[in-house]
Amino acid sequence: MILVTGASGTLGRPLTRLLAEAGADVHALSRRARPPEDGVTWHQGNLRTGEGIDEAVAGAGTIVHCASEPLHAKRDLPAARLLVEAARRQGAPHLIYISIVGVDKIPYGYYRTKHAVEKLIEDSGLPYTILRTTQFHTLPDMVLNVLTKAPGVIALPKGLRDQPIDVGEVAERLAELALAPGPARRVDDMGGPEVLTFEEMARAYLKARGLRRPVRVPLPLPGAAGRGFREGHHLTPGHAVGRRTWQEYLDERHPRP
Ligand SMILES: NC(=O)c1ccc[n+]([C@@H]2O[C@H](COP(=O)([O-])OP(=O)(O)OC[C@H]3O[C@@H](n4cnc5c(N)ncnc54)[C@H](OP(=O)(O)O)[C@@H]3O)[C@@H](O)[C@H]2O)c1
Repeated sequence: MILVTGASGTLGRPLTRLLAEAGADVHALSRRARPPEDGVTWHQGNLRTGEGIDEAVAGAGTIVHCASEPLHAKRDLPAARLLVEAARRQGAPHLIYISIVGVDKIPYGYYRTKHAVEKLIEDSGLPYTILRTTQFHTLPDMVLNVLTKAPGVIALPKGLRDQPIDVGEVAERLAELALAPGPARRVDDMGGPEVLTFEEMARAYLKARGLRRPVRVPLPLPGAAGRGFREGHHLTPGHAVGRRTWQEYLDERHPRP
């Protein structure tokens, strides 16, 4: 039995589907009540309060922890602690965690929390696997969508690059790790097929959406976290294993009429 937390999210959805298609007994956690789906048993539970967590974890041989609250970054650490404690009470399931390339090097609040969660899991005594990836295509897509809502110039941070990856490919790798016979500790990082400047990504995005807008890159991101991103610690060009490019993603996501 495999439990997926964050199963309703951007990553959790394709992961849950892949595991169900592979014939696994898939259980899925959400804060909301959800109707049963083919091959997936939904549990209602909340990692902030602990409500429903013991019931969801019961009988799991593997837990893939994808639940997260990026807008309330500090909540992820107590949530992970609660999950680890519930897992310990149920035996010693294999705990798989999805993290982000550079969380140990870039002092950005959300990344610090993810690094602390990694350490919590490594020290938990549970068999574990941790996979770090670069940003999913959906994240810069969402950022650029917000930036293009207001009319006028699009101002982007200077010197920022990204190596976006297809979320379906990350789900495939996580499914492979979840279906493997045992834990693998920290596995190789996983990055998208190409490193692009954010300006290149924005220009491709505008073109895909048929928008004509001036783009400026006036200022570098400030502070130590900004320096970490400028220095590219969130990139992993040595592990550019992703296949789907940003342009291919855009062509499908924003097809021209
Ligand atoms: N997005 C990226 O570019 C990227 C890159 C690398 C790694 N990651 C990591 O991948 C993971 C998944 O990201 P995502 O983009 O798929 O996130 P997402 O779409 O925002 O989904 C987050 C999920 O967390 C669940 N959740 C939030 N708070 C919860 C709580 N208190 N109790 C139980 N469930 C809770 C939500 O489920 P309900 O609303 O149904 O309760 C939701 O399904 C995160 O750990 C993230 O750091 C993301």
